[in-house]
Amino acid sequence: MERLEKLLANTGRWSRREAAELIRAGRVKADGAVVLRREEKFSEETLLQVDGETVSGARLVYLMLNKPAGLVSATEDPREETVLSLLPEHLRRVGLFPAGRLDKDTVGLLLLTNDGPLAHALLSPRRHVDKTYLVRVDGTLDETDEAAFRAGMTLADGLQCLPAGLERRGLDEALVTLREGKYHQIKRMCAARGKPVTYLKRLTFGPLALDEGLEEGAWRPLTEGELGALREAGGNC
Ligand code: URA
Repeated sequence: MERLEKLLANTGRWSRREAAELIRAGRVKADGAVVLRREEKFSEETLLQVDGETVSGARLVYLMLNKPAGLVSATEDPREETVLSLLPEHLRRVGLFPAGRLDKDTVGLLLLTNDGPLAHALLSPRRHVDKTYLVRVDGTLDETDEAAFRAGMTLADGLQCLPAGLERRGLDEALVTLREGKYHQIKRMCAARGKPVTYLKRLTFGPLALDEGLEEGAWRPLTEGELGALREAGGNC
């Protein structure tokens, strides 16, 4: 059993203070009845509604983060600050983790969730969920780079990469699409072409596209539509 304001805050849509306001304003129903006392306790199975919209069943949280450079994609780290430090206190205690990793200096779309089965399905190498990155390199990209990415590169250490997309956007800029996510993959692929990466930003993860309205370091809950599309991409596990 949890306090009503906490159950609402756990959805990631409101802070505890905002949840308390909603309750005070009579906008929250539990199993169909308006609840005005925020300290009243309910189970996670209770049907919760805000302004008539169902929000319960949401102890699973899904957040889109525009990751800034300088933070590691982990839940804890002995030396470095993690992406979880961007979240308010109440969301640091609901078991969120980054679904997939971006390097410390990579920016852009990161999904934070506590839905293990969905994250696992989306990251499974068998499922080949596409990820798109904006890449800038030191050097000039040409059609031989496109062809090498398309063919599937073999890196110096023997790593065999799946065919990948490289769509040039300028002399030193491209959209790269990967169907897998090996360690430092884009940096290693570009370095193998003699054109080291100078900037890397993830724009999409399966059907999810980075909300360009999110400043670096900002996050928001996924919309129902985004979550539905993501579940579909994960095989509705
Ligand atoms: N490829 C990389 O090299 N780094 C990332 O963070 C993501 C993809």
